[in-house]
Amino acid sequence: MYVCICQGITQKDIQNAVEDGASFTQIRKEMGLASQCGSCSQYAKQFIKQTQQELKASSLYEKEQLAYAV
Ligand code: FES
Repeated sequence: MYVCICQGITQKDIQNAVEDGASFTQIRKEMGLASQCGSCSQYAKQFIKQTQQELKASSLYEKEQLAYAV
């Protein structure tokens, strides 16, 4: 699904960037997210935040699994 129609940026593009450690500001700077009409800005921020939280949760889960494995 497209998040930013103006720049043709999809959820998957943003997800990949967040997994590489990028913030909203960095994605905006590098990909042009929310840099034209700006109507995607609020949803993009929300999606980035949600993706970061999911990434953090899965990372914590993996650490717990490793702790039990030792
Ligand atoms: S939809 Fe993203 S800048 Fe217009």
